Amino acid sequence: MNRPIAIAIDGPAAAGKSTVARRLAAELGFLYVDTGALYRAIGYCAHSRGVDPGDSAGVEKLLPDIHIAIKYVGGVQRILLGGKDVSEEIRLPEMSMAASKVSAIPAVRAYLLELQRDFARTESVVMDGRDIGTVVLPGAAVKFFLTASPEERARRRMLEFAQKGRKVDYNALLAEIRERDYNDSHRAIAPLVQAPDAVRIDNTAMTLEETVAAMKHRVEGKL
Ligand code: CDP
Ligand code: CDP
Ligand code: CDP
Repeated sequence: MNRPIAIAIDGPAAAGKSTVARRLAAELGFLYVDTGALYRAIGYCAHSRGVDPGDSAGVEKLLPDIHIAIKYVGGVQRILLGGKDVSEEIRLPEMSMAASKVSAIPAVRAYLLELQRDFARTESVVMDGRDIGTVVLPGAAVKFFLTASPEERARRRMLEFAQKGRKVDYNALLAEIRERDYNDSHRAIAPLVQAPDAVRIDNTAMTLEETVAAMKHRVEGKL
């Protein structure tokens, strides 16, 4: 068997990571792994057990009882928590901040590290998150740092909610995005930072198609 190939995509919330990662993965025939979903699942677990996601001792105590599994149904990633599919629940708006809070806890990051690496051992992957190119898969064949202005990212998120018939306040979304950017890039462990060897793409003024094409071009040049 050929050695699996990994492509890492990191960047802030709503930069377009998961959408482009999914498309790239489909075009390359790789597996798409959304690592944010894992942090969301732990945030959801804390939330549903009445533990403040910012309480590191409280969350740490939950970890031995948390069993997270990633499964693919028709090529789509699903997240199982204790055997129950929580893929929908973890997308609730309040889970974004809960995920950001638990993600600063070193024990949580250690807990999820092997789970993420296991995937890349046997499968070629396009993996997105915050620390994929820096910590999880430092040997990735191609690394991208995908970003866009906070205003554009808030606008994109608002459109997504609107398409689902959910109304959210633009200013509240922008504030949440800025707060998560701050938390994610200032935490002591595995902060959101561009890997020195990552290709930086600011897609504020780029369409989805242009972004995917630019990334695919890079990948093809490299592989
Ligand atoms: O989709 P969105 O960008 O809103 O969030 P996400 O990718 O689902 O990630 C939720 C939170 O998980 C982020 O704000 C990060 O705090 C955390 N995360 C992380 O710390 N490391 C990763 N590799 C992925 C996500
Ligand atoms: O995974 P991440 O949080 O980085 O972002 P996403 O959920 O993939 O993208 C957020 C939204 O921005 C999606 O609805 C994308 O379709 C959209 N997007 C866009 O409008 N233009 C781009 N150049 C990239 C993404
Ligand atoms: O972008 P992300 O990695 O969070 O996950 P996704 O499942 O690929 O979803 C694409 C976009 O749709 C995300 O930005 C989610 O915020 C949104 N989404 C949602 O709001 N509700 C769902 N049930 C699934 C996705």
